[in-house]
Amino acid sequence: MVDLEKIISLCKRRGFIFQGSDQYGGLQGTWDYGPLGVELKNNVKRAWWRRVVYERDDMEGLDCAILMNRLVFKYSGHEDTFSDPMVDCRKCKKRFRADQVDPNEKCSEGDKHDFTEPRPFNLMFKTSCGPVADESNTTYLRPETAQGIFVNFKNVLDSTNRKLPFGIAQIGKSYRNEITPRNFIFRVREFEQMEIEFFVKPGTDDEWHKKWVENRFNWYTELGIRPENLRKYEQKPEELAHYAKATVDLLYRFFPDREDENKQFDEVEGIANRTDFDLTCHTKGGKLVLADGREIPNVHAINKLTYFDHETNQHILPYVVEPSAGVDRATLAFLMDSYCEETVNDGQRIVLKLHPELAPIKVAVLPLKKNNEGIRNTAMQIKNTLMKKSGWRTVYDDTAGIGKLYRRQDEIGTPFCITVDFDTLENQTVTVRDRDTMTQERVKIDALQEYLAGKLGNC
Ligand code: GAP
Repeated sequence: MVDLEKIISLCKRRGFIFQGSDQYGGLQGTWDYGPLGVELKNNVKRAWWRRVVYERDDMEGLDCAILMNRLVFKYSGHEDTFSDPMVDCRKCKKRFRADQVDPNEKCSEGDKHDFTEPRPFNLMFKTSCGPVADESNTTYLRPETAQGIFVNFKNVLDSTNRKLPFGIAQIGKSYRNEITPRNFIFRVREFEQMEIEFFVKPGTDDEWHKKWVENRFNWYTELGIRPENLRKYEQKPEELAHYAKATVDLLYRFFPDREDENKQFDEVEGIANRTDFDLTCHTKGGKLVLADGREIPNVHAINKLTYFDHETNQHILPYVVEPSAGVDRATLAFLMDSYCEETVNDGQRIVLKLHPELAPIKVAVLPLKKNNEGIRNTAMQIKNTLMKKSGWRTVYDDTAGIGKLYRRQDEIGTPFCITVDFDTLENQTVTVRDRDTMTQERVKIDALQEYLAGKLGNC
């Protein structure tokens, strides 16, 4: 299986992902998605939205502001507890996440590090809202999209008349001032999440939790992740966040070169049963209960976040099942799982066998001879017609010989290449080449759209 280094190199070479602020030496923990990266990432998000919103009857969407009232983070518990343990080395003066650093690691100043005692470091990015930068204007960039869903629960409920069970989905940026961002887009300071808060009646939560774990696992495998590279990991009671009744993490084999197989896997998504913890924190007259047992009564919230259950004639606080995925980690997993190196007649080829729905470009139209006006014009025409009629991202490329053009499209995962040649001018047919099998078929120009639609499906 491909390692991270090869993926990083491909991403830069072909314009998927670049170091953030590269021109000025970079900004640690930030990455920019290039021309192909933005297409791939958008396709990942679209495939998620399609499955979890459009193809279900029990979901609504939402898009909240990233900046939120500070009180959201007071009553969610983030101000008090959203921290990682940090240590400083007294010798090299560097900072590390205590639970991730090897105490025997060599210090750049010689011998082993000399660490301070661990202390909590809050991961939220602080900022101020408005022209006066004092404490009263302090707020944070959201560290998860979830809180926006909880505080909008009543707005969505009232405006849609939904009955339990139903869910709210949101995709958006989140920010965490990670102590040690690392491993490319795996752990970064600015990232995107795809989160669902699925509201259910208490007592049905375990069953819904199980359903969502299966549903989410299948999403990855249906889009091409090999099941042997994806694992379900049920958190042990001592690992659970204090508010979670159960959590199953989906772990992908991000680090295949690690010797210990268990260490090859890390989280791409977590599916938690959060009970009524969040709605209790944010409801009028509710309270936040911290892990150490301290209680913070909510004296600021304006609305009750309850649901009227007509069966029991009671107002209840729904339970929440939360499938929470990282867009960047999912994108990385799809890139890694689709990467292949193959020996073919004319040498080696690198090919991204991406699911067509995820492929940044669906069809490339290539003229056999770029200096033949008839061939060139026909190719351009085919590209424009396909793009307009089907909406597929279709490109025209004449910047190299046909062999090189095929290799280029293979390496970026384009499922189909159409070649326009001299026969095209005679009989109005083109060659359609399949990325994975490299087989070629002759298809009439008039029949192209239907032919490709049969293969590309829902793209
Ligand atoms: N609302 C729950 C929540 O945010 P989380 O496990 O902290 O849970 C969910 O985050 C997902 O977000 C993770 O499984 C991961 O895919 C992604 N994620 C979290 N922190 C990240 C980071 N620093 N860089 C990239 N992705 C991250």
